[in-house]
Amino acid sequence: MTMDQTLIQTINKLQDAFNAVNVANPIDLPQIAVVGSQSSGKSSVLENIVGRDFLPRGKANLKFEFIPQSGPLILHVIEGSGIVTRRPLVLQLINRPNSRGEVGGVAAAEGARASTSKPPTGEVEEWGEFLHIPGKKFSDFNEIRDEINRETETKVGKNAGVSPQPINLRIYSPNVLTLTLIDLPGLTKVAVGDQPKDIERLIKDMIMKFITKPNCIILSVTAANTDLANSDGLKLAREVDVEGVRTIGVLTKIDLMDPGTDVVDILANRTIPLRLGYVPVVNRGQRDIDNNKKISAALEAERNFFQNHSSYASKAQFCGTPFLARKLNLILMHHIKNTLPEIKAKIGAGLSKYQQELASLGDPMGSEEETQSSVVLNVITEFTNEYRSVLDGTSNDVSS
Ligand code: GDP
Ligand code: MG
Ligand code: NA
Repeated sequence: MTMDQTLIQTINKLQDAFNAVNVANPIDLPQIAVVGSQSSGKSSVLENIVGRDFLPRGKANLKFEFIPQSGPLILHVIEGSGIVTRRPLVLQLINRPNSRGEVGGVAAAEGARASTSKPPTGEVEEWGEFLHIPGKKFSDFNEIRDEINRETETKVGKNAGVSPQPINLRIYSPNVLTLTLIDLPGLTKVAVGDQPKDIERLIKDMIMKFITKPNCIILSVTAANTDLANSDGLKLAREVDVEGVRTIGVLTKIDLMDPGTDVVDILANRTIPLRLGYVPVVNRGQRDIDNNKKISAALEAERNFFQNHSSYASKAQFCGTPFLARKLNLILMHHIKNTLPEIKAKIGAGLSKYQQELASLGDPMGSEEETQSSVVLNVITEFTNEYRSVLDGTSNDVSS
């Protein structure tokens, strides 16, 4: 395990400790938030990064509307699936080598081949855990999807309401890189059915709450078969990241572009420049999903697509989901290292505050509040002990 991996894991632990207790989080930890319009492919990108199907999906129940005034018969397609992501999902991916010490799948240094080897009988190699159900391991990823749906409905009902209160999910796997990602509802323009009339503002406010933070990295998803200049994800990102220094562009649906067109100019940063650049990906289409196409097969198809496409073959190593995952992991590490001085100051302040609180409390087995304070204190102490050298030195010590 590298220092980098441990650092991200400890940051994740701190984040959890503050989420779990009734103590305001004094440390604004770096996260990657996924934004873009509805159906731009946000959930598909996340599932490909994880290498498993686990996110709620809309049923492909398209409705057709006949518009009589339009002369010749025109069928206007209304997307019937509605908003599937209705609460922020804070997704902590934690790389954990398998029992043979191998790192596989997207997490492998190069290439996208998902691990196909079976774990020894009885051993769970990949599982999820929800913060709201401590201690329960979900090894069936369909159950993870059901739980996300159940927990969403618990807070916002079966209708199309939204809530800014996050669901926290951790996934442990040999096939992921250690990363924290936040899936957010897609922007939607028009309220449909029983959706609240101010749905657009509700969702925008929710997204803004996350991406306004200067240490939030914005993963802005745009479908390549739509106009980049009209991208909701990029427009939102530009509002809070004017210089484009903490936004990374993801272009989905490259496979659906008109023949003869490509995103080469965008990738070369000649269209709407972003300092962190753009990564093109190919996710499963709706038909692939209906046919239960495996993500491992989709990753393989994605690699073949870029390697065999005349526009991308020469730069295929900078295309696709595995490259995106590695790039995100690196960006997150740099980001954490750059913010270490600030994190250090805040931990120092938090540490003395909780030490004072604890000292004034006396019996540590007392009220729930005391137990919670000591949980936070333990995690902060663990963190500072583990990173004393880093925290005591300059941030340059770890930026090599
Ligand atoms: P979200 O609303 O932004 O989370 O979008 P989803 O990930 O749910 O994707 C919306 C639809 O677009 C689904 O039917 C996906 O199968 C499809 N889709 C997403 N990405 C791609 C892609 O790269 N290529 C193709 N052909 N379809 C895609
Ligand atoms: Mg989604
Ligand atoms: Na978009």
